[in-house]
Formats: sequence, structure tokens, C-alpha cells
Amino acid sequence: MDTLYQSQPGSRGTYKGDTMPARPPLPYTDEVKAATDHLYEKVKDFISPLEWPAKAPLIHAINQMKREKNAVILAHNYMTADIFHCVGDLMGDSLALARMAANSDADIIVQAGVHFMAETAKIMAPDKKVLIPDTRAGCSLAASITGEDVRRIRAAYPGVPIVTYVNTSAEVKAECDICCTSSNAVQVVESLGSDTVILLPDEYLAKNVAAQTDIRILTWKGSCEVHEKFTAADVQDLRDAHPGIVIITHPESPLEVVQAADFAGSTAAMADWARKSGAKQAVLLTECSMSDNVAIDVPEIEFIRPCNLCPHMKRITLENIYDALRLEQFEVTVEPEIAARARASVQAMLDLPAPKTPAFFDPAKQEKFVEIVSV
Ligand code: 13P
Ligand code: SF4
Repeated sequence: MDTLYQSQPGSRGTYKGDTMPARPPLPYTDEVKAATDHLYEKVKDFISPLEWPAKAPLIHAINQMKREKNAVILAHNYMTADIFHCVGDLMGDSLALARMAANSDADIIVQAGVHFMAETAKIMAPDKKVLIPDTRAGCSLAASITGEDVRRIRAAYPGVPIVTYVNTSAEVKAECDICCTSSNAVQVVESLGSDTVILLPDEYLAKNVAAQTDIRILTWKGSCEVHEKFTAADVQDLRDAHPGIVIITHPESPLEVVQAADFAGSTAAMADWARKSGAKQAVLLTECSMSDNVAIDVPEIEFIRPCNLCPHMKRITLENIYDALRLEQFEVTVEPEIAARARASVQAMLDLPAPKTPAFFDPAKQEKFVEIVSV
């Protein structure tokens, strides 16, 4: 497995030479201003005029280096607005990012997201150099399960298909039958022709999927440290404080939160639904940067912002993206034998027909019993 793999906090990645070459001075010149003024127009509600002269030279330098090195930046919806709107080339949810990595003709992919996303990019684009700006950008779900856990589950439940959420390490993906994301989890589970499916490792996603299908679901006790904190009482408090507000959430949240909300889906589905909702006031009950990014595209909605920060996503900054590109660090590698088996699981998911609109979780559906696997 990749030696830089850090799904738990640890090293930020080590510069491979003696000392990391210092960043050259990056002044806010007239040239930088002229090249970036149109970008500031987009993000001016989220970045103050005092901050911009420090950010603009980094943005300009990153965009120049991308052209020189034939590099692309894949930016997840949870990136801060300066990254998402000013240097990101391909933006979206985990499913979209996996598809984009598979189809990219860049030589270098910089993953502005967490480590499992960079690893998925490397699995799907093995000939490209895939960089993660900070190797500590992990995920509580990816850290909750190992390949050995999946082997033990398979031995304990012979013949039951195993689906793993894309928020897992390459080794875990290599041990499963097919991957899923929050965009297609119900579709994947129903595609397997089995009345029982093991869906790992997110207990809450599994409960949300179980409510939407007649397939019997078994799961694991993993959770997203960001979404598990939301409660149905939070939703009620929002409705009381802002009558008529539209509440949109993610299926990594507890079922009671999804049932209390107006809509739940992947980050792409949330953004898509907000755009089409005609809402005057809405809340994206998810990671904090998501509202900023959607608000820039849909200024007619007033977004109320109770949200939780993902500490892993927030490790990615303009500064470390700049260093990643100039020093071509930190390269994500996956052992070829594991990568080949993980690729088969991701590819099986990508081969399913793409839905016309992003899948959503119907809040009106009732809870079903979901067993936690014991091994
Ligand atoms: P999406 O696939 O919905 O973008 O989710 C990824 C993630 O990490 C959400 O917490
Ligand atoms: Fe992982 Fe949750 Fe952060 Fe997404 S928001 S990367 S699931 S910890």
C-alpha cells in the first residue's frame, strides 16, 4: 500500500529532498491583478479585499503552472471558494471526480480533496502523476475499516455481495465486489441481484439506503465525523427560526435527519436540487464550504449557514496546492496488484448506466432494520 497513505492524522508528507525549497516571493503586481480580477468578482462575498492581494498571486502562479505542466486540479465540492472557483478545473462529488480522473488527458492530477479521492484518481489513471497537497487529508470513514476487516467479513458471510463506499482505502476497494458513492448507492445495491447486500463502512449511509430499498442491508460501524453530528432537533430548530426554509442534507447523516429534511443526496445532488428548487432561503446541512460554492452559482438563494467543518478537507489550501505543483509532491501511489483489483470495483460502478438526474433519498421512507456485521 502507498507509504504516504494517511487516513488518520499523521505526517503531512515529507519533502523528498534535503530541505524544501523556499517559496519565491509572489507579489500582487499589475499583471497578477489584471489576470485575476475576473476571479475576484466571483468570490468577493467570501474573500475580503484585504485578503485578496495575498491569494491572487498564488492563484495566478497555480494557473500558470497548470498550463506549463499539463496539470488539472480536481476539486471536491467541499473545497474553499478560492480553490473551487479560482484554481479548480474539474469540480464535483466523489462520483464525478472518479469519472473525470478516468477520462482526463492531463499528465498531472492534483487532488484538491481527501486522500481516498486522490487514491481513486490514481487507481483510475495509473499512468498519471497524482498529487495530494497534504497527506494528512484523511477521512473518518476511510480510517474505520481495513482490507483485513473486509476479508474477515467475506469469510463470515460467504456468498453475500460486498459493496464499499468510495470513501475507503484502495486495499478495501480491492477486497469488495463493487464500489458506490452517495450518488448511486441505492442503484448499486439493487444491481447485484441479491436479496441481501453488505454495504461498508458507513452505518448511516447504510441505514439511509435500507430505507429506500427492499434489499436487506448489513453494514459496519463506520461514520463520517462531520455528518453524524447533525440531529433532527437541529432541523426543527432551523424550521422554527426560519419558517419556510428548505433543508437539504447528505445521506452520511443519521436517517432521522434525512427524514426531517426536504431533500438528501450526494454533494452534487444537493447543489443540483438547490439550483432547481426555486427556494428563497435554504440550508445545506453539510460541510461548511459547500454553501459558499453553491451560493456563488445561485445568488438568488439566501443560504443560512449552520454547518460542520471537515478538518481533513480543510487541510488543502492554495499554499499547499502551489507547493504540490511546483515541487510535484506528494505523489500518491498504489501497489499495482491492489490497484488492479480496486480498479475492477470502481469500474464495475462506473459501468452502471449513469442516472439522468442525481439520485436522491426520499425523506418520506420508513426506517428498516440494518444489522451491523460482527467479525
Ligand atoms: P459526495 O460523494 O457526496 O461528494 O461525498 C463525499 C464526502 O466525503 C461527503 O462527506
Ligand atoms: Fe470523510 Fe466526512 Fe470529511 Fe467527507 S466530510 S471526507 S466523509 S470525514
